[in-house]
Amino acid sequence: MARMCGIVGYVGSQSALDVVVEGLARLEYRGYDSAGTAVSADGKLTVTKRAGKLANLREALAGTLPPGGADDSPGEDGTPGRSGIGHTRWATHGAPNDRNAHPHTDCTGAVAVVHNGIIENFATLRLELERRGHDLSSDTDTEAVAHLLEEELAKGVGLADAMRRVCVRLDGAFTLVAVYSGEPDLVVGARRNSPLVVGVGEGENFLASDVSAFIAHTRDAIELGQDQVVELRPTGVRVTEFDGTPAAVTEYHVDWDVSAAEKGGHDYFMLKEIAEQPTAVADTLLGRIGADGRLSLDEMRLTDDELRDIDKIIIVACGTAYHAGMIAKYAIEHWTQLPCEVELASEFRYRDPILTRSTLVIAISQSGETMDTLMAVRHAREQRASVLGICNVNGSTIPRECDGVLYTHAGPEIAVASTKAFLTQLVAVYLIALYLAQVRGTKWGDEVFAMVQLLGTMPQKVEQVLETIEPVRELARSLAGERCVLFLGRHVGFPVALEGALKLKELAYMHAEGFAAGELKHGPIALIEQGLPVVVIVPSRARPILHDKIVSNIQEIRARGARTIVIAEEGDEAVVPYADTLIRVPAVPTLLQPLVATVPLQVFACELATAKGHDVDQPRNLAKSVTVE
Ligand code: M6R
Repeated sequence: MARMCGIVGYVGSQSALDVVVEGLARLEYRGYDSAGTAVSADGKLTVTKRAGKLANLREALAGTLPPGGADDSPGEDGTPGRSGIGHTRWATHGAPNDRNAHPHTDCTGAVAVVHNGIIENFATLRLELERRGHDLSSDTDTEAVAHLLEEELAKGVGLADAMRRVCVRLDGAFTLVAVYSGEPDLVVGARRNSPLVVGVGEGENFLASDVSAFIAHTRDAIELGQDQVVELRPTGVRVTEFDGTPAAVTEYHVDWDVSAAEKGGHDYFMLKEIAEQPTAVADTLLGRIGADGRLSLDEMRLTDDELRDIDKIIIVACGTAYHAGMIAKYAIEHWTQLPCEVELASEFRYRDPILTRSTLVIAISQSGETMDTLMAVRHAREQRASVLGICNVNGSTIPRECDGVLYTHAGPEIAVASTKAFLTQLVAVYLIALYLAQVRGTKWGDEVFAMVQLLGTMPQKVEQVLETIEPVRELARSLAGERCVLFLGRHVGFPVALEGALKLKELAYMHAEGFAAGELKHGPIALIEQGLPVVVIVPSRARPILHDKIVSNIQEIRARGARTIVIAEEGDEAVVPYADTLIRVPAVPTLLQPLVATVPLQVFACELATAKGHDVDQPRNLAKSVTVE
């Protein structure tokens, strides 16, 4: 089974293998446990696959890696076929070895399939296939599809019909892409609850889990709907429902180009994405502030009347996006006086949340494909709540299933650790909160205007943090030998502390915890020992009640031996005596402080992980899009 994964398909006059491998390189962030390709040429398929990162597959294709797999198909590696498919895998079940790597083939080697998702009735299907004499050689659910296609093809239908017939027999979530040696000019894809987009070229067409795989070739794309099959030929694209009825398609033009999906001189995508944050923040504000200073978010597809009727907001999200949601709660409740709950999307539908027609559920997701968040969206809609998505990937599943959407304009985020997406999610929630305040009249127009103006200055403030970041890098390198780092914050600084700890965990594989500073003395302070690095996010002095309390907290931990690393705004002298290391950020309003205070923590984690020799773009055990619950 392979549940997140990157998938590529190509048909056209270029070398299918080259196009597919290049596409896989752009999708490797989605999973990097194994990779494989199948190319159709001269009436036969050539399948090559290897455990490990794409580099292993490349070596195998170049003939420099000895056969390690159980089922390398015969054929000339590197054959410039007309059609091909490829896969980069994030394994959940079944070891990430050569045998379980995709593509999977049928008994005859004529059909090859790649798959993202899970086929829930695969055990039954497998048993049936084995009873009918098929020999299944892997532990995957995917292989069953190859054999089912084989049976349908044997009845004399083409690959597209075979795919439609097979799909209706599958339970679960899946993207499937297949090639068949008998139809070398055809690639067939199918989609249910798992991402797949079509790239439309001239005399060539593409399929991929996301557009970055083919953006070097075309920026014209087609969204595929649920339960649809797509037939890709050099001459065109045909989309049908599973029952064969022609489907209406939505075409769109991708508004970023290939340079946005490349490292641009940086060693890692993460470094590039951190550096892009001022632009990403500016782009997310762009076009949303009218000449009169009023916010205009018509694109959200929710009317002002609908927004006036809301009496409660619930935010659902995972990981970093959840931290953005936690910060949103402070802004929403302060500016709109609407009660706001924040819930981990994975927990949401299991606790009988109280939802009515006047509840607004906001789902935050960079990828728009996170399964936990998607299931929370579906649950909320079943309960008749309105659902608004905050997403970065145009045309992804979550925004398509929401009543309304506000897109963040961060551009493609490739590194597994979320950085620029987080900052733009914050901008989006600030915009939504201020828009609600404007529409519902909970803030005076001039107050909304003043805050919007301040938001407009944030790209420069983020830039300022980046320009003065070198000491943070040095600090991170000096702490590479530590086993544990704690993070403390209050108010919006608490989610920032959680985010700092998450970054360090996922990149540096270190024990890192974020705490609400006030909670420390209720237990966690026992963790403090001599020399333990503790990062403290100090709120703006504009809220003395918060600020002074955290200064006391710093003194408490320092008295117990902690090495204090203090992030405080410029001009805050009260913290100086208690900071072993002081990191300055620009002074901004309290609610906006996460936009500047998070940046040093991203750089800290990235640099520390690099000093430990880790691949920060592809941390172990992780994948960018978590399309499994
Ligand atoms: O695509 P999403 O925003 O829905 O992803 C949610 C989380 O999986 C994601 O933020 C994850 O926590 C990041 N790796 C954190 O850096």
